[in-house]
Amino acid sequence: MFRIALIPGDGIGPDIIKQAVKVMKSLEKPGEIEFEFTEVLAGGAAIDKTGHPLPQESLDICLQSDAVLLGAVGGPKWDTLPGDLRPEQALLGLRKALGVFANLRPAVLFPQLKNASPLKEDIIGDGIDVLVVRELIGGIYFGKRGREGDTAYDTESYSVPEVERIARVAFDTARKRRHKVTSVDKANILESSRLWRETVTRIAKDYPDIELNHLYVDNCAMQLIRDPHQFDVIVTSNMFGDILSDEASMLVGSLGMLPSASLGNTKRGFYEPIHGSAPDIAGQDKANPLATILSVAMMLRYSFDLTREADDIEQAVAKVLEDGYRTADIMEPGMKLVGTERMGDLVVEYLKCS
Ligand code: IPM
Ligand code: MG
Repeated sequence: MFRIALIPGDGIGPDIIKQAVKVMKSLEKPGEIEFEFTEVLAGGAAIDKTGHPLPQESLDICLQSDAVLLGAVGGPKWDTLPGDLRPEQALLGLRKALGVFANLRPAVLFPQLKNASPLKEDIIGDGIDVLVVRELIGGIYFGKRGREGDTAYDTESYSVPEVERIARVAFDTARKRRHKVTSVDKANILESSRLWRETVTRIAKDYPDIELNHLYVDNCAMQLIRDPHQFDVIVTSNMFGDILSDEASMLVGSLGMLPSASLGNTKRGFYEPIHGSAPDIAGQDKANPLATILSVAMMLRYSFDLTREADDIEQAVAKVLEDGYRTADIMEPGMKLVGTERMGDLVVEYLKCS
């Protein structure tokens, strides 16, 4: 029995989580693969009910589960709240409490969605497959911040152990891919980046089979568009990873397609699509559930060792796209427009055929 804490959250969160649950239920086999779902309140929804973005009870349920699946949190409704009471605090609080320091964000171009990429065909070539490994519970997101008089400050700091562990995740992951790691920093300016670069270079000695190079973050942002094929695994800090992963997601067509997995030292993982809560289309059967469904595939692979089922989900998604079904965000002329529910049903139908 795998225990999953479900956080529908805000905006389109509930719409897409419903589809992900549908897909998981379709994989159940009594006595073999069984899921137990517990719904958890967090984000704006929790603020409305309890006054706090991450109630203790919600956190406790997540800490007792084998995996957490989150839809999305936030929305304009809560934008005027003070920083420490915003819905985003639920996300940061959960990541920190679960100790998930490594955020894996794969940007893969499904060949079926070639036209959705803004890049020219000769740059796309035979596809794009980049994995951003983002440090998730350190850096400027969690450093000392405050105000003094008319000045505000936020602090970027990294310790050697924090860099070592994320570097190891990047090198280990590159071993299962194309054996290349690009470490991204701003070592021409930031002391924390110089420590980052030194540490990554030292850890690389344990991985002689992996090719390592370093790029400054501004150069990396440019290179991702100029020639995405030079990248296999990109390892970087919390803030740079936040920015570069949004950029990478656009290269492959839609934010609505990209899943993510956040891992720590145990099998317990935190899974979420990388897109936001899109309040303008919430509850209208318009959201693309594929990023969340692909996040489920990552959950099955990393937390539950259900590799075959994970592959099956990814293949079912590819086949649904192959057969021309599209939600509005990835719609193109000549394709078949479907809503959130139908897209979830299609993945289930194709899974049954696999
Ligand atoms: C992300 C998001 C979050 C982040 C926000 C919502 C706090 O942008 O997961 O990329 O900055 O980490
Ligand atoms: Mg982001």
